[in-house]
Amino acid sequence: MSQDPNSTSGPLHDLEQWEDDLRNRYPEEIGQWTSDSTKQADQFRDYAATVKPEVREFYRLNHRLQTLDFVRQKRREYLTLDKRKMGLWDGLEFLNTLIDDSDPDTSLPQIEHLLQTAEAIRRDGHPRWFVLTGLIHDFGKVLCLFGEPQWAVVGDTFPVGCRYSDKVVFSEFFAVNPDAEVAEYQTECGIYRPGCGLDEVLMSWGHDEYMYHVVKHYLPLEALYMIRYHSFYAAHRESAYQQLWNDQDRHYLRFVQQFNPYDLYTKAAVRPNVQELRSYYEDLWTEFFPDQLAF
Ligand SMILES: [Fe+2]
Ligand SMILES: [Fe+2]
Repeated sequence: MSQDPNSTSGPLHDLEQWEDDLRNRYPEEIGQWTSDSTKQADQFRDYAATVKPEVREFYRLNHRLQTLDFVRQKRREYLTLDKRKMGLWDGLEFLNTLIDDSDPDTSLPQIEHLLQTAEAIRRDGHPRWFVLTGLIHDFGKVLCLFGEPQWAVVGDTFPVGCRYSDKVVFSEFFAVNPDAEVAEYQTECGIYRPGCGLDEVLMSWGHDEYMYHVVKHYLPLEALYMIRYHSFYAAHRESAYQQLWNDQDRHYLRFVQQFNPYDLYTKAAVRPNVQELRSYYEDLWTEFFPDQLAF
């Protein structure tokens, strides 16, 4: 199989395959997570039976390789934000070089996902910062274009440096993570204080945390939670890791729950007319951001 120079490295056909799998795990008709534990077990069994082998392999790599040391190394490497400066349109066009040749239906998968998310938020009459959040929430996927493998860009995120929750999808794969052997990292709070708040917790490395740092000086805290924790399904869908939450997290994680359906369930909607929407979103971008953001 030949490797397209722009394709992402890893077992997934493309990054969307992870999001397609999320819709399989959290079908829209089920809505927000149920507190009925029998139903939860049934749902998870259904999911585990249908998950694609490449998705399973993707999680196996992610859970094995996302260690505390790895996260610290990536933060040192990327949080200097000196890799590239991008405005809205060059950012979208750059992201779109992640194009997937195997999917004939969409030629602009990243642009379309971001515009569909933003347009659904706009249709529901939400504030302008919320619409902008929909537009940019996945810009951190440029990590793939900087050479990062899929398992370090997408996938459910989780805290590193403390015991793994069994609410993280495929938590059994954590058994082969080297951190599983470090006693200090395997207590309930690990290297953190109880109730320290998620801001002090190091999350597995990926597009969420990275994008949070790119925009943290420009958007309200509600938006920053949406961006930073939108892949932290164990927290916003399963209420796991509460031993680390503080009052701010208890309040603001609700906004991640409000954002999540726009991220997951707007894919089948009408395809956006990219050229028609361009000037609206360029105005929205300049209302909050400088012409170019530093990545
Ligand atoms: Fe995302
Ligand atoms: Fe997304």
